[in-house]
Amino acid sequence: MLGDADVARIGLGTNRLRSTPENVTFLKEAVAAGVGVVDTAHSYTGGESEETIGAALSPVPDGCVVATKGGFARGEGRPEVLRTQIEDSLRRLRTDSIALYYLHRVDPETPLEESLGAIEEFRNAGKIRHVGLSEVGIEQIERARRVVPIAAVQNRYNLADREHEEVVDYCAGEGIVFVPYYPLHGADGPALAGIAERHGATPAQIALAWLLARSPAMLPIPGTLSLEHVKENLVALDIELGDDEFEALS
Ligand SMILES: NC(=O)c1ccc[n+]([C@@H]2O[C@H](COP(=O)([O-])OP(=O)(O)OC[C@H]3O[C@@H](n4cnc5c(N)ncnc54)[C@H](OP(=O)(O)O)[C@@H]3O)[C@@H](O)[C@H]2O)c1
Repeated sequence: MLGDADVARIGLGTNRLRSTPENVTFLKEAVAAGVGVVDTAHSYTGGESEETIGAALSPVPDGCVVATKGGFARGEGRPEVLRTQIEDSLRRLRTDSIALYYLHRVDPETPLEESLGAIEEFRNAGKIRHVGLSEVGIEQIERARRVVPIAAVQNRYNLADREHEEVVDYCAGEGIVFVPYYPLHGADGPALAGIAERHGATPAQIALAWLLARSPAMLPIPGTLSLEHVKENLVALDIELGDDEFEALS
């Protein structure tokens, strides 16, 4: 469950998405193929990612959630900046309610509580339904939860980057979705290739299957502009790794 939505545990990252008619079609087909979350941000491709999603997915079909983020750069966690960015996102996404809104980074110049206070105003007005955090530790998540319920945490995590093991487990224990970004980084190496061959799968699919097996809280958002890759990534939902395979990759 992501907030109040029951969605597939593989999403789509869109940080390279440009505003073209082909990409509008691509998004519609990706959602029809079954991606559970389309992940974007105010900062992606100068706003084109959000605009293209708005053009393709308004209204957002059932079974899919569109998540966006704001407050990426230093100083952008100030409440007045965040309010402007949220209004931009609502307009670009052509919606009156964003399903999941992440604070993209904790701003070193603004107390976390102040940034979240601005997001909470929009949640109280029904313009944001659920709130997430990106690149945070457990202490920051706990501080944030004193201001607003946290539905998702998006941190860098993959086979090669395991800094956030404790955050993964914390999220699973607290019913928070953990969204690993750069999920395919490190999807190479001989162990992976051998296991992939045994399953008749690609290394990318095995890397995603490993993430899904790592924790029930996990919801990876591989980035791609290829419908073929979207479909391949969704197959990972059906790949079951043996305990020995999981351990060998861990
Ligand atoms: N919260 C944050 O601060 C943060 C930071 C970075 C990224 N993100 C989010 O996380 C998403 C994912 O990260 P990412 O896109 O940087 O890295 P990624 O998903 O680990 O890797 C993307 C790369 O993998 C390729 N790819 C995707 N599916 C594939 C498949 N089935 N087989 C082979 N190659 C495949 C893509 O190329 P093709 O286009 O050719 O498929 C692309 O080169 C982003 O799109 C963004 O939404 C968030």
